[in-house]
Amino acid sequence: MRYGPNLLEEILRRTDIVQLVGRRVKLTRKGQAFWGCCPFHGEKTASFKVENARRTYHCFGCGKGGDAFKWLMETEGLSFPEAVERLAGEAGVELPKWSPEDEAREEKKKSLYDVIEAAAKFFEEQLAGPAGKAAREYLKGRALDLDTAKKFRLGYAPAAGSALIAHLTSLNVTMDDMIAAGLARAGDENHGVRDFFFNRLMFPIADGRGRIVAFGGRGLAADAKPKYINTGETEFFSKGRLLYNFHQARPAGIKAQTIIVCEGYMDVIALVRAGFEAAVAPLGTALTEDQLQLLWKVAPEPVCSFDGDAAGKKAALRAAHIALPHLKPGHSLRFAFIPGDDDPDSLIRTFGAAAMQKVLDAAEPLADVLWKSETEGKDLTTPERRAGLERTLADLVGQITDGTIADYYRRDFDSRVFDAFKRRPKSNRPSQGGNRDWKRGRGDRNSRFPPQPEGVSEAVKASLLVRNAAGAVMVKESEILRLVLNEPELAARHAEMLAALPFSDLHLDRLRAELLNVAASGSRLEKQGLENHLIRRGMADIVARLKAPTHEMGEGTASGEDADARFLRAASQLRDMAELGPEQKAAWERFKREPTEEHQREALRFRQDRSGE
Ligand code: UTP
Ligand code: MN
Repeated sequence: MRYGPNLLEEILRRTDIVQLVGRRVKLTRKGQAFWGCCPFHGEKTASFKVENARRTYHCFGCGKGGDAFKWLMETEGLSFPEAVERLAGEAGVELPKWSPEDEAREEKKKSLYDVIEAAAKFFEEQLAGPAGKAAREYLKGRALDLDTAKKFRLGYAPAAGSALIAHLTSLNVTMDDMIAAGLARAGDENHGVRDFFFNRLMFPIADGRGRIVAFGGRGLAADAKPKYINTGETEFFSKGRLLYNFHQARPAGIKAQTIIVCEGYMDVIALVRAGFEAAVAPLGTALTEDQLQLLWKVAPEPVCSFDGDAAGKKAALRAAHIALPHLKPGHSLRFAFIPGDDDPDSLIRTFGAAAMQKVLDAAEPLADVLWKSETEGKDLTTPERRAGLERTLADLVGQITDGTIADYYRRDFDSRVFDAFKRRPKSNRPSQGGNRDWKRGRGDRNSRFPPQPEGVSEAVKASLLVRNAAGAVMVKESEILRLVLNEPELAARHAEMLAALPFSDLHLDRLRAELLNVAASGSRLEKQGLENHLIRRGMADIVARLKAPTHEMGEGTASGEDADARFLRAASQLRDMAELGPEQKAAWERFKREPTEEHQREALRFRQDRSGE
């Protein structure tokens, strides 16, 4: 271990945690402790306590708490070693090096960082100087002003094949170091040693600490091949582990609890200019697992904003598949597709920031993207194809390692499959309206299902029957929230009940938590005000989904006493659905493992028993 407990203790002892936390949260003294409004959950009364005596912070509302290291990790997204380094620096505590070899390697790296920094400066000067005229014109053509160029430290690598080498040589940098830093190419039989980048617009790439470690270079000619090149892998640059602009995006992203992932350098710059500061891009490859982990340190649901074309969809799908095994409660991805041929850069340039905001607001959940990719434009009219779809969906769920999430996805896909298939024969669609919701979960075979099309196998029918029962849980959760959205006072009148309900759907659960927050804050919101609030909190899509008229939700528009009665009934129904006894659970497990008719009957018995009440 690099840092011993004594050293860490020493750093904490010398850190004024009240002062540290006070930089972000307004604190008021009460006795020995300081209090403020918790930065981790929205609240209006102070339940967040900071104490120098204990050297901790703690929120009595949401339970978050820890020491100064944890604070920096949670509010600034630093890793533990980064937090230690930061506080040690502030407290004037010197950190030991690991070993002489490590120290030597660190020294070597440090000198290479200096070399790269010198190169960045050189490129910047070139962009500003006579050699950079064409590059400046190019920027102008792309509506990129010089202030922005400065902010991103854009530069220009001159057309002469060894201008950088000449410059660095004059600074006594060795050729070996230039090659190690990825700035020069070793010579071969055709060429001498030469600059890695020439005649390119240069985008410096920083690591998590803001040190420049590599470059991306865009060819200026319209037909430059390749259009972009990046520094190759070096000792301190691995393109799958960094994201362009991550260092600058991180604080903004943590504050806004969102981060946008787009495809390219120019997109990032356009987004930041348009006010979307938390924007990053992978470096010319598909999103990697490491990059996902970086994103999740910033925000629970990073939004991938890819082009709406085939390539963008493919990139989105790849990201979705990479994410599946790493999903955790509260960690997902969303996808905002840009219509037409645009990318964020061109969309913003042509239609403005509001258009981009609209695209982001319409971001689709991961599950939607997976579902669409398996179903859209596909012919699923035969039982075999439907069974194939179910197999594919089950395989996707099989990729998810977190049990709770896998379960959620299974139910989500199940209800989609049911929806898609039961609506197939138009003439047999159940009539709209009427409160048939809970009945659908109860095993009332004949009234629940329109007759299946001819030729559907018993197995498919059986699986649909069960799937419907599981999907009913989400329908019920939606119905409850829909009632509250229509009559916000319900959340205040029945806060305890609402808080105690076993919500299984992640998104709905988040909405529920926010409704409780609003209720607890005591603000009297009317319908529209509540909706606006939720949209500001990034829940536009789920609100829209709940508001969309669908026959599954019953009529969620009751008000007054009627609303109370409906709310309480739906709540108790949801509770019943979740309360499977051990016997029933076992029956369901058996059925899941071995979906035979008999196991299915047993699994469903529970629900049929209840239909007599
Ligand atoms: P795009 O081709 O979509 O480029 O590649 P772009 O960002 O819209 O670029 P402009 O607007 O034409 O300047 C997206 C990203 O893929 C990587 C780069 O990181 C680029 O930003 N890329 C693209 C490469 O690494 N090499 C290439 O040849 C092309
Ligand atoms: Mn572009």
